[in-house]
Amino acid sequence: MSTAPLTYLQGFGNHFATEALPGALPEGRNSPQHCPYGLYAEQFSGTAFTAPRQANRRSWLYRIRPAAVLRRPFRPLPHRGLSGRFDTLPISPNPLRWSPPPIPREPADFVDGLLTLGGTGSPESHAGCGIHWYLANRPMRDRFFYDADGELLIVPQLGRLRVATELGMLEAAPQEVLLIPRGLRFRVELPDGEARGYICESFGAPMRLPDLGPIGSNGLANPRDFQTPVAWYEDREGEMELVAKLGGELWSATLDHSPLDVVAWHGNNAPYRYDLRRFNTLGSVSYDHPDPSLFLVLQSVSDTPGVDSVDFVIFPPRWLAMEDTFRPPWFHRNVASECMGLVHGVYDAKAGGFEPGGASLHNCMTGHGPDAETFERALGADTTRPQRIGDTMAFMFETRTVIRPTRRALELPQLQPDYAQCWQGLKKRFQPPAAMPPGAKRPRP
Ligand SMILES: [Fe+2]
Repeated sequence: MSTAPLTYLQGFGNHFATEALPGALPEGRNSPQHCPYGLYAEQFSGTAFTAPRQANRRSWLYRIRPAAVLRRPFRPLPHRGLSGRFDTLPISPNPLRWSPPPIPREPADFVDGLLTLGGTGSPESHAGCGIHWYLANRPMRDRFFYDADGELLIVPQLGRLRVATELGMLEAAPQEVLLIPRGLRFRVELPDGEARGYICESFGAPMRLPDLGPIGSNGLANPRDFQTPVAWYEDREGEMELVAKLGGELWSATLDHSPLDVVAWHGNNAPYRYDLRRFNTLGSVSYDHPDPSLFLVLQSVSDTPGVDSVDFVIFPPRWLAMEDTFRPPWFHRNVASECMGLVHGVYDAKAGGFEPGGASLHNCMTGHGPDAETFERALGADTTRPQRIGDTMAFMFETRTVIRPTRRALELPQLQPDYAQCWQGLKKRFQPPAAMPPGAKRPRP
């Protein structure tokens, strides 16, 4: 495993140009008759060719062999924990919560250790997302993966990931996130030996930064804090495996070389990383708790303006300064469906039971909110002083359509059968005025 410090290019969605050998990028054209160093030119597109310019994603790759070169074709690859279809079970309106699934005892790399919590939509229709944990204890060496079904938003919770991709190498620790574009080939190394985290596999439009509206030109996730790797390649031969995900299923092919052989590339369809601690969190400085859309980091937009296919929202450390306000997130029922995870610390709406590495699922119109202990504590809080929520990093994958948990997730021993009990301690507090005698007039307030 390489441990060299990594170099990044700064900025979100930029048109980058980077080469690992001087002069490897053709000058002034994408596909010359002869590419420098005998490289092959290959276009890697992330949107329709005709997508509007501001949404269009594509890169040009200059590589030792084209991606079409395989030694043996793809065959189905069975997998125990991964599910790609979400239409087989009824959806329960009950709130669901899982304790963190353990790292397996048997050897498991990033692909072996995928465990699907649930999903919505379908990869074939390019709508919706799959939600997975990864639970890994060994690096990928001569094995590579790409996901044609969606781009992968990876949220590490335990252990760093060093991800070697066709477009370069990037690393993420807990409280940072990685995004791997649809179809990009990569392998995952584990600098800390073990790793656990979450993945939102978004089937729809590539993630983008939200518009800021009245917030102005700065705030939330600032574009310059996103980092894309510089070109890097390996010229390595031998029997290697390429695993693909397409149509919800895994497939395995054999290569006689590493597919990470891109010597230079340019374009804007590229992986990136982002440190969630750089998020410029905004909030109310008068009264009331704002809607969680104010904590939006990245969005996959749908065809309906203002209604996203998938939102990635975080609840980072912040100050609460609202006066005469119930400060934790309020009780609510939403048209959207919410899958939450916790990277670090404690989430401010739950006093216990929601652990780092665990997850909760509140589907469309399922009532939820602060648990009884959090509610009682908030009633007694002094709201004339600011309060620091310091030790936390929770997040949410929020979807416009209902998230169906998988059978495997519902059978996990980590599913908490008593989760809904956390609201049963919310006692009746209603105090109507004393009963009035018949015919008496109620005084005006
Ligand atoms: Fe919620």
